[in-house]
Amino acid sequence: MTEAIIIDGKEFSSNLRNKIAEDVKTFKKERNVVPGLAVVLVGEDPASRIYVRKKEEMTTAVGMNSLSYRLDANASQQELLDLIETLNHDPAVHGILVQLPLPKHIDTPTILEAIDPDKDVDGFHVVNAGRLAIGTPSLVPCTPAGCMMLLEHSLGSLKGKNALVIGRSTIVGRPMAQLLLAADCTVTVAHRHTKNLEELCRQADIVVAAVGIPHFVKASWLKPGAVVIDVGINRVPAEDEAAKAAGKTRIVGDVDFVEAAKVASAITPVPGGVGPMTIACLLNNTVQAARNLTS
Ligand code: GUN
Repeated sequence: MTEAIIIDGKEFSSNLRNKIAEDVKTFKKERNVVPGLAVVLVGEDPASRIYVRKKEEMTTAVGMNSLSYRLDANASQQELLDLIETLNHDPAVHGILVQLPLPKHIDTPTILEAIDPDKDVDGFHVVNAGRLAIGTPSLVPCTPAGCMMLLEHSLGSLKGKNALVIGRSTIVGRPMAQLLLAADCTVTVAHRHTKNLEELCRQADIVVAAVGIPHFVKASWLKPGAVVIDVGINRVPAEDEAAKAAGKTRIVGDVDFVEAAKVASAITPVPGGVGPMTIACLLNNTVQAARNLTS
């Protein structure tokens, strides 16, 4: 049995960031403007702090301006809305990202809809979700955009493929389904109430797993030769007994990778697959937003 090609998201995203750095240089030369990304973090969630720091470091690394805003965990919704309003009108800011999840006392849809859709580099604003749904995408959510790049890299044209998206979140599942549809796939979206998931999976040429359950998708569900994109980032106890006893953890995806790699033709690993693509696509969206705003 031949093993699947391991899709190297780390290398792909590194090449993409090099290309973005070139785009930023050209943009500076042509328009005398440095693209700027404002990243807003409310509270102290440890995982969010790590993600936000990474986004800021990579923004600077491609030659863009990174503007950081930190609000206290008990900052009011109005304080956050006031900050967004200021950033919406700041000509040095081309992209605005409010890190999710927000504290419970803040209404997330209200915040996302306060961001100028032309600066919405997450692609979460209803205007951008609507544009994607009617097939005129502008700023596309970063994780699904990254998945599409990896799929097109593996398969070339996706036309006519059966694609199964497992998970229907607004951040990944729904926009992913829209992008696959725009690429002429026949798309099925599965979720917690789906009855015949294994059967649907066996018919899929492309499986995108975004459920947040470790090793949820089994090798026996896959059609031989399927391309598998694993969006999951799940923290589980370390495998090694001593490490486990010491409370160490490791990150695994939503797919049983080792077994699935024996059936699939190509598969993304976790870590090192989809994860690194998300930030690269955020930077890509920021350059795109800067182009749109200054043209
Ligand atoms: N939290 C987890 N993923 C994301 C993302 O893609 N964007 C934002 N803003 N917050 C997140």
